[in-house]
Amino acid sequence: MSTLQNKVAVVTGGNSGIGLATAEEFIKRGAKVVITGRNHAAVEAAAQNLGGGTLGITADQASLADADALVNTVKDRYGKVDVLFVNAGIGVFSPVPDVTESQFDEVMNINFKGAFFTVQKFLPHLNDGASIILLSSVNAFTGMPGASVYSASKAALNSLGRTLSRELAARKIRVNVVNPGPIITPILSKAGMDDESVASFRQKFAERIPLSRAGESSEVAKLVAFLASEDAAFITGAEYNIDGGLTIHGLMG
Ligand SMILES: NC(=O)c1ccc[n+]([C@@H]2O[C@H](COP(=O)([O-])OP(=O)(O)OC[C@H]3O[C@@H](n4cnc5c(N)ncnc54)[C@H](OP(=O)(O)O)[C@@H]3O)[C@@H](O)[C@H]2O)c1
Repeated sequence: MSTLQNKVAVVTGGNSGIGLATAEEFIKRGAKVVITGRNHAAVEAAAQNLGGGTLGITADQASLADADALVNTVKDRYGKVDVLFVNAGIGVFSPVPDVTESQFDEVMNINFKGAFFTVQKFLPHLNDGASIILLSSVNAFTGMPGASVYSASKAALNSLGRTLSRELAARKIRVNVVNPGPIITPILSKAGMDDESVASFRQKFAERIPLSRAGESSEVAKLVAFLASEDAAFITGAEYNIDGGLTIHGLMG
């Protein structure tokens, strides 16, 4: 197992789903972890359950003021950061004619603008040799109906990862992007889907996924932990699909 012994790791959106599972994996591998999220009670509960001295910070990734406060708190507690996992994100799904300006702004402000400025504000506080992992989606390069804004927000992240990997190479900071397919988390119910719709959505996906199932948060967490570690020392500017083969689903067969 790749070690993260004594590394300082920040996980945005660490109170739920993929972020929470990754925080758990980081702790298992010896890291000191900071998690964020908007829901104060959920952040506090997750930090307590994770244990290992996990610091929970309530912060809205869409707010640049919150990003400044987050960076200052982490700096005061730990000094420098070794792993930045930019994971916080939301899904809002509507066909193009129905997308409102406020939906557009909400998704872009959290998934892309907020992610961008979170990275920017942490840059002076990253150790040389640090690892940044951006959590995108296979939606970044597919054309799922109803996902225009979500997909564009994620495609922007993949683009950012490529540029950052070049800009930060001189500091030996590695930047990689993880593109999950369908993963079982509360994201769809938070997007307003009822249990029946979530089940039918997952079923439709499972029929198209060569491995015939949705993924688990813990499976994404292991990939992220690998990319965060020295075992991935020669990997930067890369993207990894973790989707059970969904994106290479054949036209026939
Ligand atoms: N599940 C999937 O199938 C899937 C597939 C591909 C990509 N993804 C991506 O994976 C990431 C994690 O999602 P998930 O599936 O694990 O869903 P989730 O369980 O809903 O987790 C989302 C996390 O992001 C946080 N968050 C959302 N908006 C935030 C904001 N403005 N500021 C700070 N934190 C915020 C949430 O906490 P609060 O609600 O407390 O703010 C929560 O901790 C997202 O970027 C999502 O787009 C998910």
